[in-house]
Amino acid sequence: MIDNDRDCEAANNATMSFTRRNFLKSAGAFALAASPANARPGQVERSKTASADWCGSRAPATPLFVPRESGFLGRLVLDDEPLTLRVAPANAGSGAPEGLVQAYFARFRGRDYVNPTLVLRTDQRVRVELVNHLGEATIVHWHGLAVDTRNDGGGVTLAAPGERYAYDFRARNRSSLYWYHPHPHGLTAGQAYRGLFGLIEMADGDDARLRAALDLVPGKSEIPLVLQDRRAGVSYAASDADRMHGFLGETVRVNGSACAHLDVATRIYRFRVLNASNARTYRLGWRTASGKRLPCTLIGTDGGLLAAPRACTEAFLATAERLDLLLDLSDAAIGDAVFLETRAFDPMHMETGAEPAAVDHAAMGHGAAASDPHAAHAAHAPSLPEGVARALLKLRVRAKIAYTAKIPDRLSSPPAVDASRAVERPLRLGFAKGRWRINDRVFAIGETPIEVARNSVETWLIRNYFKSMPHAMHLHGFSFDVLERETSPDQLGELRVDERGRLATDLGRKDTILVWPGESVRVAVDFSCPFPGEQTYMFHCHNLEHEDGGMMLGVKVA
Ligand code: C2O
Ligand code: CU
Ligand code: CU
Repeated sequence: MIDNDRDCEAANNATMSFTRRNFLKSAGAFALAASPANARPGQVERSKTASADWCGSRAPATPLFVPRESGFLGRLVLDDEPLTLRVAPANAGSGAPEGLVQAYFARFRGRDYVNPTLVLRTDQRVRVELVNHLGEATIVHWHGLAVDTRNDGGGVTLAAPGERYAYDFRARNRSSLYWYHPHPHGLTAGQAYRGLFGLIEMADGDDARLRAALDLVPGKSEIPLVLQDRRAGVSYAASDADRMHGFLGETVRVNGSACAHLDVATRIYRFRVLNASNARTYRLGWRTASGKRLPCTLIGTDGGLLAAPRACTEAFLATAERLDLLLDLSDAAIGDAVFLETRAFDPMHMETGAEPAAVDHAAMGHGAAASDPHAAHAAHAPSLPEGVARALLKLRVRAKIAYTAKIPDRLSSPPAVDASRAVERPLRLGFAKGRWRINDRVFAIGETPIEVARNSVETWLIRNYFKSMPHAMHLHGFSFDVLERETSPDQLGELRVDERGRLATDLGRKDTILVWPGESVRVAVDFSCPFPGEQTYMFHCHNLEHEDGGMMLGVKVA
């Protein structure tokens, strides 16, 4: 089954098959088409009453925070200039959203930024000096960028309190949304949760063509959505259960606020979604106010634009993954509301081997049965368990405009990894002696249990045990193609797009991939490496509690 020919494009090229006249009606038709595999009783009911989970009239109307040319997540066009990034405690008045107590600060061309969005051109030189004003060591990792070990910030070298670390590299990646966050082993989860994360918007010619074709303007019709769940009033303190399952918050924030709305016009919008949560996975989709599912168009994944757009009714998004989406509101009427929601799913926390069907996760929030040694977890279970439906963002249609642009048929020509001569490397994800492990091992600084020959191609067969939970596996330095999924859980069934068991989101370049309990995912990685000398990267679970707990291995490319 490891044939490598690409069959992805054709099938769904009729991207938006619903007619523009019948916006709401066809949204309903899509919901019907998508529902048969949703056989779980109660599910339809839940999504019909979904409006009950919106913040309601009690909540103050909070406009969605949209990044501008300065301030929080402000777009900072680096050109070829050096940048100083200060990492420091964030106090009130620092410009960071409430609850974030650490941040990256920059002053650039007279403007002040908090967690700046670095706007880069493919192939440009990037020089960033990190200055650590925290009371503990840190380092910045550029998630998704193909750089050498020195610039990767994987945690091999750290900046101690008061120290600096200078990065200098070429941005070799295709256009996409990448991001940056800390990577000091054992301290990553806390620092990321306290507020250390930022976006990298890389653009090349394909991106420029897309923006021109659809008249997309960053900050107006092209908007990043950074999802992060948070606990009110507490800073980061992970319990044993949190370290086991991941640190879940009780409120999902989008760009720093919960229950936000965005006023929109009747046109196509581009949303670039990043899951910056420590551990939570979302099942994202759009719906109308009456609960009808609304299709959108998937145009890109972690590592760039797809070859062609694809219709998509929903997608799972695990921690660190990104989605590039188009939402066509041209046929909406003034007064319509559209919600981005996370839909109900089984979070499959099955560390104890409970049969998935035996537990109503949506109701109980967890697979922790009464006999479960981890049952203590239930007592500390957050008020928003993973897999519970929630509306995350409300779009309010406020302006009728003339908009006739069409989504281009072709978006890019992604390079395909030629896996015909690949060596296969098995990687097993499991739990033993209180720790999550890869191939039975936990991380040790200086060790590289995975050794890869420079310029070789490998397929990695990532197998998650059944007695496990989902793990979002991320490789530094190299993106990969997803070849197939096997023995996937039933809830992925309706999302399969080909006979290799892949999902729409598997058809683009990836740097992070969610592997469900009992599932095997085969990916192909091209280890072509232009950097002289031995290079070391990390392969780890991006559930940050799992990563800090040692679910990470060093990878040597020699
Ligand atoms: Cu997003 Cu090893 O990191
Ligand atoms: Cu659990
Ligand atoms: Cu994990």
